[in-house]
Amino acid sequence: MDVTDLDRDPLRQLDEWFEAARAAGDPMPEAMCLATASRDGEPSARYVLMRGRDEGVVFFTDYGSEKARDIEQNPKAAVVLHWYVPVHRQVRISGTVLKTTAEESDRYWLSRPAASRRSAVASYQSSVVATRDELEAAVAALGDSEPERPGRWGGYRIIPAVVEFWEEQPFRLHDRIRFLREGVGWRVERLAP
Ligand SMILES: Cc1cc2nc3c(=O)[nH]c(=O)nc-3n(C[C@H](O)[C@H](O)[C@H](O)COP(=O)(O)O)c2cc1C
Repeated sequence: MDVTDLDRDPLRQLDEWFEAARAAGDPMPEAMCLATASRDGEPSARYVLMRGRDEGVVFFTDYGSEKARDIEQNPKAAVVLHWYVPVHRQVRISGTVLKTTAEESDRYWLSRPAASRRSAVASYQSSVVATRDELEAAVAALGDSEPERPGRWGGYRIIPAVVEFWEEQPFRLHDRIRFLREGVGWRVERLAP
């Protein structure tokens, strides 16, 4: 893999690798590990699903969750995606996090099955619950309603400052190409594996 093999726009390149993984049968190519840090630098990581790729990568969550608390204190995050097919690849992205608009969050909310929407309403993500029964009772109390999006649920968009493409090569001499945002464009450089 050489710099000239990659799109000049790293988000278009991400799209290309993502679609290649999906076409090759990866069961969940949109899974990305999201790292955040609190104001005092305490890190934490968890998987979320990439639900949009445009000028950034978008995921949806509960704005009351631990990750959201980190993002409110420190609006920077990193994600990493990893695929074995069609080639062993990794993409790392880091940048600034912005909330999606209410319209965007509404659109995604309405695309989810009603049962998933009820679970999101009943579950205050990352809060402590005494038992599973308690959660199930909260969901049951919503009957078969089609709840509106609660204000505490919505999306975030990570606007990349750095994007790195990694591809496996024989005997550890892997390819790493890093894009660094520079003005309206990107500086591109190769890194030692
Ligand atoms: C593959 C996978 C995808 C997930 N996708 C999401 C997601 O898109 N949004 C979300 O809020 N949690 C998602 N989760 C659950 C999170 O990993 C995590 O448990 C939850 O968001 C609470 O994290 P927090 O307490 O650090 O905020 C996913 C978990 C897995 C394993």
